[in-house]
Amino acid sequence: MRSLTDNYTQKIIPLEFDQSYGYPVCFTHDVFSIDNPILLNVMGKTNRGEAKKTVVFVDQGVVSETPRLLKEIVLWFEHHQDYFCLACDPVVFPGGESVKNSWDHVHRATRVMDDSELDRHGMVVAVGGGALLDMVGFAAAIFHRGIQLIRIPTTTLAQNDAGIGVKNGINQYGRKNCLGTFYLPTAVINDAGFLKTLPFDHFIGGVAEAFKIALIRDGSFFSFLENNSALLKQRDQTAIEESIERCAQLHLDHISHSGDAFETGSSRPLDYGHWSAHKIEMLSGFTMGHGQAVSIGIALDSFYAWQCCLISRIELDRIITAMMNCGLPVWSHYLEIKDSGGRLEIENGLEEFRQHLGGRLTFTMPHGIGHTCERHEMDFDIVREGLIFLKKIPGVKQT
Ligand SMILES: NC(=O)c1ccc[n+]([C@@H]2O[C@H](COP(=O)([O-])OP(=O)(O)OC[C@H]3O[C@@H](n4cnc5c(N)ncnc54)[C@H](O)[C@@H]3O)[C@@H](O)[C@H]2O)c1
Ligand SMILES: [Zn+2]
Repeated sequence: MRSLTDNYTQKIIPLEFDQSYGYPVCFTHDVFSIDNPILLNVMGKTNRGEAKKTVVFVDQGVVSETPRLLKEIVLWFEHHQDYFCLACDPVVFPGGESVKNSWDHVHRATRVMDDSELDRHGMVVAVGGGALLDMVGFAAAIFHRGIQLIRIPTTTLAQNDAGIGVKNGINQYGRKNCLGTFYLPTAVINDAGFLKTLPFDHFIGGVAEAFKIALIRDGSFFSFLENNSALLKQRDQTAIEESIERCAQLHLDHISHSGDAFETGSSRPLDYGHWSAHKIEMLSGFTMGHGQAVSIGIALDSFYAWQCCLISRIELDRIITAMMNCGLPVWSHYLEIKDSGGRLEIENGLEEFRQHLGGRLTFTMPHGIGHTCERHEMDFDIVREGLIFLKKIPGVKQT
């Protein structure tokens, strides 16, 4: 038997390597138009002398609103057949959370990739909302240990947030995003034209994520959202395009400069307003959109920030008024639901958030609009006062 002091049992080989990561996020219209070079540019022409095999996955919600899309995709590939080969007709998956709820969809997506004989140089293009992108992104990340992925987000939320970052996942074992990876896309293309067919709630919900990042990162962007709230509500194309571009830029700055792109620490600035939002979404049985839940979460945490003297009363009123002017909610009856023991369900949500972070609570709060600080405790009595405060705001829908 070797002693613990001999060479072998004490041997450690340190492994360190540097590899830089990155990908372009592009902004355009009519991405599948033959005249638009952006997709061709980001897909990268192969130098192997053969057309690169590609599989395209599309969200059913997008196809229903834009039936000509599938034909346009096929025509695009026919036009560029010297470089890219569509391995099979575009594959349509259901949109929305249901596509993340079953492993069967991942299985079907990887089966299509395998039947299409995609190798490590093959490519997947995913066109859809954040849910479809999360499911396809996960499938692409595990197929052959990761093949190239182009994301084309089609909702405001996905263009602002879900579709441009480094995460994917599906819901399993009763938990959201329980299985997933950090996996970088080859490129992301935000085509603002897709937003025109979104129902209002899905259109405006994504703007809540813009408020979130503005409040913790960029006061001038908050002023932009505030000054353009009526235009955003009217779905003004110029206003939404500027808001998406600025939001995406701030989001990408965070990923590239925070030093924690793969979320190893417990600080999650981009989760501002999200501890209660996750619970509200769940309590609604996911009938309330993520963006709407986030705007309520932002309102609640902004009240908290005011009570802690981190923002002024004037700033709190500006935040709430601007979000309401956009058509975003700041209160919901789900906030008042109690468990069988009489405890507010959102208080349970706070505990779940703490567990999700690995035991130690870390909240991001605005410290003046556009600046941030962290807190490690939450006084729930203040949260309870916040619920009463928000419910009494004139014009708040009592639903
Ligand atoms: N990976 C991440 O970093 C990240 C970040 C935030 C959120 N998410 C995930 O994103 C998902 C929410 O995404 P979402 O808000 O984009 O909604 P969604 O993907 O659930 O789509 C909502 C609905 O809109 C439809 N739809 C999509 N595009 C459309 C269009 N252009 N016109 C008409 N209908 C369209 C879909 O079919 C669906 O019915 C959640 O599962 C959430 O967990 C992921
Ligand atoms: Zn969010």
